[in-house]
Amino acid sequence: MDSLDRRQFIKLVGLSGIPFAVGFPNTSLAQTSKDPLGYTAKDYSKLLGMPGFSESLLKNHFTLYQGYVTNTNRLIDTLNQMVKDGKTGTPEYAELKRRFGWEFNGMRLHEYYFENLGGKEEIDRSGKLFKKILENFGSYETWETDLRATATMRGIGWVILYQDPVNGKLINFWINEHEAGHPAGGIPILVLDVFEHAFMIDYGLRRADYIAAFFKNIYWTAVEARLQ
Ligand SMILES: [Fe+2]
Repeated sequence: MDSLDRRQFIKLVGLSGIPFAVGFPNTSLAQTSKDPLGYTAKDYSKLLGMPGFSESLLKNHFTLYQGYVTNTNRLIDTLNQMVKDGKTGTPEYAELKRRFGWEFNGMRLHEYYFENLGGKEEIDRSGKLFKKILENFGSYETWETDLRATATMRGIGWVILYQDPVNGKLINFWINEHEAGHPAGGIPILVLDVFEHAFMIDYGLRRADYIAAFFKNIYWTAVEARLQ
C-alpha cells in the first residue's frame, strides 16, 4: 500500500484509535503529548492588527497551525506506542509514519512564516542579506520578481527562499506540499504560505494582492538572522 486518499486515511486512524481528522484541526484537543519533548503551539497573537491581514484570517490561520502541533504530538505518541506494541509491520504504522512529515512540516513551516511577519521596515540595504541577494540574483528586484512569480504560480503550497549551506547560495523554491520538494540540508530564510487559507478570506482569488501585503509586513531582522 503506497498511499491512501484522505477518506481512507481518516478511516485508518479511526481504526488505530486516533480520533482526529487530518487537515481539519480540532482546537479542543490538548496540545500536550506523552512525550516529554512534545511540541507546544507558539502564540503569534502579536501579529493581530497587521496591515492587510484581517483578524478573522489570522485567527483561522493560527487555529490551523495549532492543529498541526496537536497532530504532530499525537503521531509521535501513537507511533511510539505501536513500536512498543510490536505493530511496526502493519500498514497502519507505515501510513502514519508517512503522514508524519506532513504534520511536522505543517507545524514548523507555519512557525517560520509567522515569525518572518510583523515587520514595519524595509530590508536593510546595507545588511548581509541584501548583499547576499545581490551576489546571487544580480539585483534585489530580480530576486523579488522571481519570488513573486513563483508565489503566483497556479497551485497551492509554499514559496521558500532557501540557502544551500554547502556553498551559501540562495534559491527560491516552490514547495508543493509541506513535506515534499525541500532541498536537503537547506536553510529556510524567508517562508511564504500560498495555500488558499492564507489569503482567500481577505483576498479571494487576488493572490498577487496578498503577496503585496506579505511583502509590506516582512520582518527582515528575523529573516536576515536565519542567514548563515
Ligand atoms: Fe497556512
